[in-house]
Amino acid sequence: MDPRDRNAVVTGAAGGIGAAVAEELLARGARVALADLPGERLDATRERLAATYGERVIAVPGDASSRADLEALLAAGREAHGPVDLFVANAGVPGTPELGGSDEEWQRALDVNVLAHVRAAQLVVPAWLERGEGYFVSTASAAGLLTQIGSATYSVSKHAAVAFAEWLAVTYGTRGVKVSCLCPMGVDTDMLNLGRSSDDVVERTMAQAVTDAGDVLSPAQVAEVLLDAVAQERFLVLPHPQVHRMVQGKAADHDRWIAGMQRYAASLGVS
Ligand SMILES: NC(=O)c1ccc[n+]([C@@H]2O[C@H](COP(=O)([O-])OP(=O)(O)OC[C@H]3O[C@@H](n4cnc5c(N)ncnc54)[C@H](O)[C@@H]3O)[C@@H](O)[C@H]2O)c1
Repeated sequence: MDPRDRNAVVTGAAGGIGAAVAEELLARGARVALADLPGERLDATRERLAATYGERVIAVPGDASSRADLEALLAAGREAHGPVDLFVANAGVPGTPELGGSDEEWQRALDVNVLAHVRAAQLVVPAWLERGEGYFVSTASAAGLLTQIGSATYSVSKHAAVAFAEWLAVTYGTRGVKVSCLCPMGVDTDMLNLGRSSDDVVERTMAQAVTDAGDVLSPAQVAEVLLDAVAQERFLVLPHPQVHRMVQGKAADHDRWIAGMQRYAASLGVS
């Protein structure tokens, strides 16, 4: 899909990958509703982007995992710009260390990292099927194809996000609903950097497992790769090309892959 003159919504757009994707969408001619939890970070990003793009950008505070907030977000986008053409489900929460602690921590990871995508799709896909077009972007992670050393909540919720994106593409792709699934390794954002500077040794190790495995890309680099893939309507978006080889290695011999990951986890001191 060419984003020119299209209406986009980006969740988790107050900073990091989401803000960069919003900026790249605006640069390519889209109108964008920035969605994130209420706060100064969202206001500052809207002000910065509005200085260049004016009324083509609005900000709508809310919780991306709440059905009521998603309905309000889509209504605000519709009022300002018209019905949404492209929904970028990007908001995410970092993993809780090890087995993931409480039921509440598991529920939050599942709510934000995957059920937010499900609820958004339930709200946008029926209209897209009627119109015969629409575009859903899921920000998952390389952890959704491989695993996240140190965090079960992140690994499981991101695998579920990949599975949901695949299901959407398989079920509706031939009826005009296109899907891309973004699976980066390290990106230079608050999420990664808070892990890198955490007091918790497992959180630091989780971040190190990501940064040792490949380059840390800038959010702008990731946004450009993503929107090139959207232009070509490609499903799997791997800003770190080595993830493709890692996934092939996993598929070729699962036991060998697990043994290799065990050695990697042991070398980082988390097994
Ligand atoms: N940074 C990385 O290395 C990396 C790698 C792979 C995938 N990702 C994924 O990229 C996405 C963006 O993360 P980022 O790296 O830009 O980090 P980030 O912390 O800068 O951005 C995440 C954003 O999501 C928002 N958010 C969290 N919960 C929310 C909720 N309930 N409702 C609305 N907004 C909410 C946060 O406020 C924040 O602005 C996430 O889904 C993350 O899991 C990041």
